[in-house]
Amino acid sequence: MSRIVVSTGRGGAGKTTFAALATKYLSPPLLLIDIDPDQSLADMLGIDLEKEEVRTVLDVLFDIQKKQGYKELVSMPLPEKIEYLFTSECLYESKYFDLVSLGVKWTEGCYCAPNNLLRGIIPRLAQNYAHVVIDAPAGLEHLNRKVTSEIDDLFIILDPSLKSMRNIQRTRRLVTEICIKYQNFYLVANYRFTEDAEKYIRSADGIYLGKIEPDAEVEEYNLQGRSLLELPDDSPASLSVRHILAKAGYETA
Ligand SMILES: Nc1ncnc2c1ncn2[C@@H]1O[C@H](COP(=O)(O)OP(=O)(O)OP(=O)(O)O)[C@@H](O)[C@H]1O
Ligand SMILES: [Mg+2]
Repeated sequence: MSRIVVSTGRGGAGKTTFAALATKYLSPPLLLIDIDPDQSLADMLGIDLEKEEVRTVLDVLFDIQKKQGYKELVSMPLPEKIEYLFTSECLYESKYFDLVSLGVKWTEGCYCAPNNLLRGIIPRLAQNYAHVVIDAPAGLEHLNRKVTSEIDDLFIILDPSLKSMRNIQRTRRLVTEICIKYQNFYLVANYRFTEDAEKYIRSADGIYLGKIEPDAEVEEYNLQGRSLLELPDDSPASLSVRHILAKAGYETA
């Protein structure tokens, strides 16, 4: 059984950094899914998807919807076509992890059929992995509609603001409203928290796992487009993420 981890939080809180660093410590086989339109998970792992000729899921669905390309697959029924293209065009594979990016092209037209089909593909694909890490924007509707409604651990990355604190309750309500089932609701302080500010999280509704320490190398690597996987194991951010995952019960090899 794969364990499904979701990293979410408000814009700029550090959810992609958390997902990228978790990649260092979660045991393979590991699948990463980027459902944030911002699409920076691959960048943070030093992968150029365009150069690798890996397409986003929505780009492929868009072409199918517009009947562009894939003429050789014209007689294939839609569910098989989507599944085939998903694994042949959208899956980036490497020694340590595989990665899928949902993409941003979600424009006019009714995507109900592809949407529903997609929702079946990812849980099926996830069964081949020990861990699945999903980088998700704060509104988790896409997660439920396109990816999965059953997850194990929800990590809410928080920035030190009242809005962020309020977002904890909002996220709780939202996951219930959109019928996402989860095991654990974890809270993580981002690198901007002071010890004083941390006390606000300790009294919040969720299991507080700790803070990600500020790390100048994270900024530097992100600026240079260098993979966060190359960050030294003893760097403050690496150590914090490892510690947080261990507290959540993960074996962090
Ligand atoms: N531990 C850290 N120390 C220093 N800087 C950090 C740390 N974690 C993240 N950052 C910086 O904070 C910024 C936002 O991080 P990140 O992109 O992970 O946030 P996000 O929540 O995924 O943002 P978005 O909502 O845009 O997807 C980045 O520029 C990153 O370099
Ligand atoms: Mg991000």
